[in-house]
Amino acid sequence: MKAIVVRDRDTAAGGPVLTDLPHPHASENDVVVRVHAAGFTRGELDWPATWSDRAGRDRTPSVPGHEVSGVVAELGYGTTGLTVGQRVFGLTDWTRNGSLAEYVAVEARNLAPLPADVDHTSAAALPISGLTAWQGLFDHGRIETGRTVLIHGAAGGVGSIAVQLAREAGAHVIGTGRSTDRETVLALGAHAFLDLGTDRLEDAGQVDVVFDVIGGDILDRSAALVRGGGTLVTIVQPPSVRPEDGRSVFFVVEPDRVRLTDLAQRLRDGRLDVRVGEVRPLADAVAAFAPGRRVPGRTIIRVAED
Ligand SMILES: NC(=O)c1ccc[n+]([C@@H]2O[C@H](COP(=O)([O-])OP(=O)(O)OC[C@H]3O[C@@H](n4cnc5c(N)ncnc54)[C@H](OP(=O)(O)O)[C@@H]3O)[C@@H](O)[C@H]2O)c1
Repeated sequence: MKAIVVRDRDTAAGGPVLTDLPHPHASENDVVVRVHAAGFTRGELDWPATWSDRAGRDRTPSVPGHEVSGVVAELGYGTTGLTVGQRVFGLTDWTRNGSLAEYVAVEARNLAPLPADVDHTSAAALPISGLTAWQGLFDHGRIETGRTVLIHGAAGGVGSIAVQLAREAGAHVIGTGRSTDRETVLALGAHAFLDLGTDRLEDAGQVDVVFDVIGGDILDRSAALVRGGGTLVTIVQPPSVRPEDGRSVFFVVEPDRVRLTDLAQRLRDGRLDVRVGEVRPLADAVAAFAPGRRVPGRTIIRVAED
């Protein structure tokens, strides 16, 4: 099968390149998915899991991309709830070959059924951003109606979904970002917008939850915004400054079939909009990894047509 692979962190020597790989095998509890669309994260070539398996052994050449939307091609022993030919989408394992390929083996529990009226391109843009936003707001931030949440990077992949989910949950939502993001963030449903370039972060006042996707100095300064009993949630790095009288949480997104199903339902009924940037064929995927490339919205690689 055709796949994008990386062999070495030194991109001049190690790719990514388009090549041929053997068809993946469905181990126990696995499903092999015929990939229609795949999402990847630009920074994933820096993740240890891209280079080593769970036991820490070199697993190169490895296939990047951990978001998949496609059709079940093969079922391994022990899989439940899915059938061959079914449309599915989900998050693939971090330490195994990913979705920038014609086929990928994924644990069945990491996939959710994809309704017929949701296209593969939108579905492939949802697993990481959607699940991260959900888990950050509700599982870790415990937001509910009437709470105030400040969402950094609110026009980005995770932030744009977090704004929509927090608004739907009845929270008061303050989004932050660059000056050019203001209209986008307000249109997504934020009640207020803070320009991190010109406004004072401290002018946001006290909030119940800060959801950080930027890290560094912005994360450090955000601890002081969290009111007593509140939570500072970040997905970038463990915080070095903590709220005086609240919790701080750094987490890594986990697969969740039930939540993926909820998120797909929101796409169907228009409660959620996912920001897709550019869409490229697999044959042209290498260029999407070019250093310094910035395209707003998720970049999606189309592998097979519907
Ligand atoms: N722990 C986890 O499980 C997990 C899950 C998903 C993502 N992540 C990480 O979380 C981060 C965000 O992911 P994402 O997909 O949401 O990225 P993204 O789509 O690039 O969104 C980040 C947003 O923040 C804005 N931003 C960044 N720095 C800023 C600054 N100094 N001032 C104002 N705005 C700023 C960006 O604007 P510009 O585009 O203009 O720079 C963009 O709108 C990434 O580092 C990603 O690797 C972690």
